[in-house]
Amino acid sequence: MSSFGLDGKVALVTGGGAGIGRATAWALCRAGAAVAITEVAAKAGAARAVVADLQRAGYRAMDLTLDVRSTMTIASAVGLVCRQFGRLDILVNNAGAQLLKSALELEEEEYDDVMAINLKGAFFCAQAAALEMREHGGGTIVNIASQHGVVGNINRAPYCASKGGLINLTRALAVEWAPLGIRVNAVSPTFVVTEYNRSLLAQAPFADEIANGIPLGAAATPEDVADAVVYLASPAARMVTGHNLMIDGGWTAR
Ligand SMILES: NC(=O)c1ccc[n+]([C@@H]2O[C@H](COP(=O)([O-])OP(=O)(O)OC[C@H]3O[C@@H](n4cnc5c(N)ncnc54)[C@H](O)[C@@H]3O)[C@@H](O)[C@H]2O)c1
Repeated sequence: MSSFGLDGKVALVTGGGAGIGRATAWALCRAGAAVAITEVAAKAGAARAVVADLQRAGYRAMDLTLDVRSTMTIASAVGLVCRQFGRLDILVNNAGAQLLKSALELEEEEYDDVMAINLKGAFFCAQAAALEMREHGGGTIVNIASQHGVVGNINRAPYCASKGGLINLTRALAVEWAPLGIRVNAVSPTFVVTEYNRSLLAQAPFADEIANGIPLGAAATPEDVADAVVYLASPAARMVTGHNLMIDGGWTAR
């Protein structure tokens, strides 16, 4: 099992104060990594709380403020991780924005904001991380995309566009950065039950889509996604790059 371990590695998880990001931070720590968790300023307390729990459990963790729409805060956060932990080996681009709205009613700023967070922000986090990783012989980047990056669905035009873009950005960076020893992959979860969407997913139309649309018969948990991230970040996936791993219980296999 040692090739699945991350001993001595340093990871950065964007948007790690709750949900998938928090579960990923725990999974990376359990696999042996030191983890930096970022949040936007308004949610800095959430990242601090996760870090306090991780430290109480004996893991190495730090929290940082980072808004993926600001290249300045990205550069500053990556710099602080390297100052604190000495290097950066793993980036998890988890920060994301969802907007459920009819395509006919979308405002320009709403479209731009989803794209800025889910696609442009992920790119500039990857760029800042890759500049550090190449100094230490490489690293791995895992982008949290979505099942809605490979199929279309109503009321999600910018979300589908941004996650589809993120999946192909993953391939482009994988090809370009392979000579630097940097692997770039994506995971695409189905509906994931988090504290923020638990009641929403229990109602129509989500409950029906989950019961009838997912062959494995249930929504994913944050841990289902986190375990896949650990695999892709680990030496066990040393020959895997440019891949988009569906964590969808078969939703897109039909
Ligand atoms: N929950 C789901 O059903 C689901 C399904 C598929 C994919 N995803 C993707 O998984 C990732 C995590 O989703 P989640 O449901 O756990 O949490 P979420 O969608 O509520 O938010 C993710 C995190 O991003 C942070 N964030 C938002 N804007 C930011 C910004 N400008 N800069 C930095 N951070 C910012 C939030 O504070 C939050 O911690 C997202 O990319 C989401 O699109 C979620």
